[in-house]
Amino acid sequence: MTESPRSASRTPQLTLSRPTAHKAPRGGITPGLVGLRRAVPDSIPKPPYAITGQPPATRGPATQTPEIIARMRVAGHLAAEVLLEVGAAVTAGITTDGLDAIAHEASIRRKCYPSPLNYRGFPKSLCTSVNEVICHGIPDSHQLVDGDIINLDVTVFHDGVHGDTNATFLVGEVDDASQHLVRQTRLALLRGIAAVRPGVHVYDIGRAIEDSAHGAGLGVVREFIGHGIGEQFHGGLQILHYFDPRADTVLEPGMTFTIEPMITLGSPELEMWEDGWTAVTRDGSRCAQFEHTMVVTEDGVDVLTVTADGRTAVDLLVEL
Ligand code: MF3
Ligand code: CO
Ligand code: CO
Repeated sequence: MTESPRSASRTPQLTLSRPTAHKAPRGGITPGLVGLRRAVPDSIPKPPYAITGQPPATRGPATQTPEIIARMRVAGHLAAEVLLEVGAAVTAGITTDGLDAIAHEASIRRKCYPSPLNYRGFPKSLCTSVNEVICHGIPDSHQLVDGDIINLDVTVFHDGVHGDTNATFLVGEVDDASQHLVRQTRLALLRGIAAVRPGVHVYDIGRAIEDSAHGAGLGVVREFIGHGIGEQFHGGLQILHYFDPRADTVLEPGMTFTIEPMITLGSPELEMWEDGWTAVTRDGSRCAQFEHTMVVTEDGVDVLTVTADGRTAVDLLVEL
């Protein structure tokens, strides 16, 4: 394809809004106040850890039966719907706890238990990770402001199985560097999914993601990885988002897992807040993440966390 002489033919445009900043702000997120735990009606079936706080030590099988996959397809649809509903509420001024309330109600309305609630003691129904927060941010009194980016990580438990999906949303007018980050993180997830089919190794997924992110000048977080999923929130499979020859498990039809790369504008090194959950970049640079739950099919992959009519929050950002 040849390049058109765009700059030569373009006429000057009237600037109606302030120009978008090029550089991303660094750091500044601090812990807010965490509200009371939300109640789930008795009529909603709950995973065992909802009471005890501890998921069972036993790890599920790597491949799932067609019957479990059919149930996971429904849970995946519902998780996708909840993520779209909470994502639509992202706007300057709302608190992350306000988003948690929406996720909680949206889950219950669909006869789902919000899987994060009391998982290893997690106090809320949703993970909300703003700017330099890498993952597992706890919804609190923090108010979103214009220019923020926020990842919403929704997992629901329905009919005995989990569906896990997340996306990063822009709050108002966001600087160019952060837009690049969000766009490329979504692309890294899609490249990882495109690598999935029977016979490939888990490290092929990691390589696809890492090559994509590094090619865009971005970092890949190593401490958090994708996971097997089904009757358990986190099953036995480990899906690294970078190449490691030891990740040599061969994919087989019926394997169900997530891919959920966390990609950084600066160094991917992390540190933990004292709450034991919130992971942030050490250098304060921004981080984005996207996640889908999928099943390996006979000839490729089926993404489960899409609505029944094929919509996903991940694709909301397609025009970015
Ligand atoms: N949804 C997250 C994941 O993708 C896990 C959240 S665990 C919680 O694996 F306890 F923080 F909710
Ligand atoms: Co998740
Ligand atoms: Co996950």
